[in-house]
Amino acid sequence: MKIEIRQARAGDLSEILRIERASFRTPWTELHWRYELEKSESRILVATVEGRVVGYVCGWVMGEEMEVANLAVDPQWRGRGLGKGLLKALLERALEEGVREVWLEVRESNQTAQKLYASLGFSPVGYRLKYYPDTGENALVMRLSLTEVPEILTFSNKDKRR
Ligand SMILES: CC(C)(COP(=O)(O)OP(=O)(O)OC[C@H]1O[C@@H](n2cnc3c(N)ncnc32)[C@H](O)[C@@H]1OP(=O)(O)O)[C@@H](O)C(=O)NCCC(=O)NCCS
Repeated sequence: MKIEIRQARAGDLSEILRIERASFRTPWTELHWRYELEKSESRILVATVEGRVVGYVCGWVMGEEMEVANLAVDPQWRGRGLGKGLLKALLERALEEGVREVWLEVRESNQTAQKLYASLGFSPVGYRLKYYPDTGENALVMRLSLTEVPEILTFSNKDKRR
């Protein structure tokens, strides 16, 4: 089985949308995704199995900071390390382009995603109260500093930074 993580392209849109709609209560629209795929700050990676998109991650890079804006894996492909692999690949690439701090918001109830983020070194730093308009749920804000490269990121250029 050939699993690959690569940069997203316009032709991935329909598969991304299928996963997006299967994954979120308030999915990003097609228009939003088209914009993301063109925006200069967006870094979007997809995971493919035998050429078929089964997950994606989207980050927004602003200088030395990045926000992880979206992450989802096809429900049929969850629990096999793809989500973690996608985020790890995004972090490695961000590090290479000079990002030193990464932020994200996650629903307070989304324990699965929180565990994934914690497993890559993210720490909770606070809450945004009633952040999600669809349910009024709080967002947990998590942060990862990349000034000390976490061991888990097998960053190929690690020695260059010393
Ligand atoms: C969150 C999501 C992307 C995880 O993707 P995934 O490919 O299933 O995750 P992985 O298999 O890479 O698991 C990575 C870690 O996440 C945690 N995790 C994954 N599935 C879990 C589950 N069902 N229960 C608890 N923790 C879980 C574990 O810590 C796991 O590490 P481990 O296997 O070493 O224990 C996926 O569940 C998803 O698409 N959910 C819906 C969309 C979403 O919530 N996105 C995040 C928005 S902030």
